[in-house]
Amino acid sequence: MKITVVGAGAVGATCTDNIARKELAEEIILLDIKEGLAEGKSIDMMQTAALLGFDTKIKGVTNDYAATADSEVVVITSGLPRKPGMTREELIGTNANIVRTVTENILKYSPNTIIIVVSNPMDTMNYLTLTTSGLPKNRVLGMGGALDSARFKFYLSQQLGCSPSDLNAVVIGGHGDTTMIPLIKHATWNSIPVSQFLSQEQQDKVVADTMVGGATLTKLIGTSAWYAPGAGTAAMVESIVRDEKKLISTGVALDGEYGQKDISLVVPVIIGKSGWEKIIDFKLSEAEQAAFNKSADAVRNMNDVLKTL
Ligand code: LAC
Repeated sequence: MKITVVGAGAVGATCTDNIARKELAEEIILLDIKEGLAEGKSIDMMQTAALLGFDTKIKGVTNDYAATADSEVVVITSGLPRKPGMTREELIGTNANIVRTVTENILKYSPNTIIIVVSNPMDTMNYLTLTTSGLPKNRVLGMGGALDSARFKFYLSQQLGCSPSDLNAVVIGGHGDTTMIPLIKHATWNSIPVSQFLSQEQQDKVVADTMVGGATLTKLIGTSAWYAPGAGTAAMVESIVRDEKKLISTGVALDGEYGQKDISLVVPVIIGKSGWEKIIDFKLSEAEQAAFNKSADAVRNMNDVLKTL
């Protein structure tokens, strides 16, 4: 198994670190446009191998796409991260060109790969990759729901005073501060609805905190987060590589599911060796469906911006 991670910034490097620690591949190519960055971070990570006991080889390269040839999975993290006060959507102009170029270069050497798009604004960058790569739709996955669902569980665990891993909770919609929809009515603590334990006010706070989870961190750190984005991406890679068939909220092309078409939005899907294998299309309440449609409108407006670039 060979995996490429494009972008050796904080998210790309953390994702690489997670993949190596889990030994999901024999080899990871970490590629960056900045001379020496990927090489340096790769050597640093390789120097943890003796301490952590992993055998994955990490190789850093500067813009050398030939080195990525025959990658089975490619993670694209390239592009600018947001600064405090910025929305993910404000990154579209710069990041669209970067993601388009990266995708073209990747496909020259790995024409049948599975691509996970992390770059923001994720829903639109994933749509761009879907529509320009020519890959079957199942081989293009947007990372956002895995992260947002983990943040949702974190905030729920704070309110409940419980272990985040005892929770079941998913976020759907878009990966944006106003487009993501934490499905609190469906969230359970080991199968018991969280509404049995939390007041309406507490539930509303969890939903609000989750929606601005990324922005809160950007304000604190001065740039966007990387530990949970890196781990969220690695969880998707793991489900592909080990053919786990995990149910993970993921940005995928919708073709009538959840009442939407010609768009990438975050919904629960099964992830296995061929990418996303099945959309879990379940009936939303009227309010949830209305919120989903509103998110779709916002994402569609953003996708329309692509035509003007
Ligand atoms: C975040 C970025 C990765 O939510 O979108 O932290």
